[in-house]
Amino acid sequence: MHVIAGPSSPILSKKLSEELRTPLAKVTYGKFPDGELYVRVEEKIKDAIIVQSIRSSDDIVYLMLLFDVLKNREIYAVIPYMGYARQDKAFKEGEAVSIRAIAEFLESNAEKVISVNLHSRDAASHFKNLIEVDAMPLIGEFYKDKDVIMISPDKGSLERVKVAAKVAGCEYDYFEKIRIDAENVEIKPKNLDVKGKNVVVVDDIISTGGTIVKAVESLNAKVDAACIHAVLASNALNKLFSAGVNRVTATDTIEQPISVISVAKLLAYTICNIL
Ligand code: R5P
Repeated sequence: MHVIAGPSSPILSKKLSEELRTPLAKVTYGKFPDGELYVRVEEKIKDAIIVQSIRSSDDIVYLMLLFDVLKNREIYAVIPYMGYARQDKAFKEGEAVSIRAIAEFLESNAEKVISVNLHSRDAASHFKNLIEVDAMPLIGEFYKDKDVIMISPDKGSLERVKVAAKVAGCEYDYFEKIRIDAENVEIKPKNLDVKGKNVVVVDDIISTGGTIVKAVESLNAKVDAACIHAVLASNALNKLFSAGVNRVTATDTIEQPISVISVAKLLAYTICNIL
């Protein structure tokens, strides 16, 4: 068995191979001048754990090419960040259910698919045998005994935040929208007074940063933002810091400069249990 580091997850793959005491395969990735992608697995491999987050179309093509090289071998596909999961239904007639297509692609090529906190239950429901791990306790560990209050951007995500808060041993709440009049909406924590407190707004994904910025602007407190998947599209980090966010923290399901919490141990534990 080898661990294969997909080009989107090199650091996490190395950590995972160390945790599992399983060698990293030597693989070359390239791009032709016309944009086509190239993969060469440089050694003989029997079975493989491929680690590759899906953020872009190239990430999917690289996976497709790896599956081709490893045809008829036993493959575990570890997809730390499962992109395309926000299109988990046809919101308008004629739309592709993107995550359904991704699920079919992965499950027809890999024995097992392992991922971290899919965006929604609807997204997860398109997989037949998905093994999904919850990284919220790791965010809780990071803030353990740090005297913070954790707040979810909305009621729907409260259950997730509760998991982190329980591990951190802190209070938690969610933002509620209160309509002041026809034009004005106020956003504030539902139950807790956070004035002067250290607040952590916890979300599963930070993409454009818009959700966190809205929440932070409504608070009179020192605010951190923490998430599992740091997509960080459209200059999101700058937006967050300009809005006054003190620190932004994420796991390494997407490898970013702020990925200070690793899911490697959690994934290794999960894989050991199914091997
Ligand atoms: C929403 O359902 C998610 O939990 C996140 O709040 C959302 O995806 C974050 O996106 P953005 O950073 O673009 O506001």
